[in-house]
Amino acid sequence: MAYRWKNTLTAEDATPYSAFLNRRQMMAGMAAGGIVGAIPKGATAQEVLEPNTWEEITNYCNFYEFGTGKEDPARYADALTIDPWTVRIDGLVDKPGDYNFADIMSQMTIEERIYRFRCVEAWSMVIPWNGFELADLLEWVGVQSSARYVAFETAMRPDEMPGLSSPVIDWPYVEGLRLDEAMHPLTIMATGIYGRDIAKQNGAPMRLAVPWKYGFKSIKSIVRISLVEDEPPTAWNKYSAREYGFYSNVNPEVDHPRWSQATERRIGGGLFAKRQPTLMFNGYEEDVASLYQGMDLREFF
Ligand code: MTE
Repeated sequence: MAYRWKNTLTAEDATPYSAFLNRRQMMAGMAAGGIVGAIPKGATAQEVLEPNTWEEITNYCNFYEFGTGKEDPARYADALTIDPWTVRIDGLVDKPGDYNFADIMSQMTIEERIYRFRCVEAWSMVIPWNGFELADLLEWVGVQSSARYVAFETAMRPDEMPGLSSPVIDWPYVEGLRLDEAMHPLTIMATGIYGRDIAKQNGAPMRLAVPWKYGFKSIKSIVRISLVEDEPPTAWNKYSAREYGFYSNVNPEVDHPRWSQATERRIGGGLFAKRQPTLMFNGYEEDVASLYQGMDLREFF
């Protein structure tokens, strides 16, 4: 039975470590694939199970439609109207159409997924998402056999999004995944964080979360999902193809042309915290490496 997380938690309800441990054990039995997959190989339990606070997650983020400063999204995203919200699903699908977000939610099963999150700018967090598997949505609308990629698009509302007035990006923000990446059980549409509805600055009412890829693949406030035959254009790749590849898998061995990707700064770790080594595929190597077998990850970065 699909259900919606209720807005019952407050910021003061930061879930204690022990509760996360218990919940993980409970859920591991329920949905072995995804949840077991959420434990990065080589990471300590402490690293995995201690999510950032609600304040850290909501106050420090990138959502350039609201400005390029890390705190701009928290300052301006409140203007975004998220109810009603319609998602156009089109292209190579059996049931194309304009879907109401509430109708999508009524069909999906919401789970909690505690995922590592690594931004291409070399900062990271651990985020306790709530969401549904993208595969469930794609199966619901019926993917046709000629589809090979999934393209995503963010809302573009100049009246509500002050950042759109600067041409930082060729708006609207677009992203894409190969179909097998989109169907992978770790790939979710996030609709909540810490059991509450996702904050607008984090991509309400639904945004992608692909934990083994750099954060910019996790496109926010999605209004369109298209099943297509050819690799779709992506916002940051259009901005600078030599810096941002289509795949953008987290890879400590492939540096950004302007900085190293070998280590990361954990948000909330304190000013003097040591940088942490970045893990291959952000710690999800065991789950996803097979998707890229035989590919040169330096060429397809
Ligand atoms: N989606 C849109 N539409 N616009 C953006 O600017 N920024 C990306 C990604 N998705 C972005 C976006 C980047 S660079 C990151 S690091 C993450 O969102 C930040 O997600 P968070 O708010 O969960 O930290």
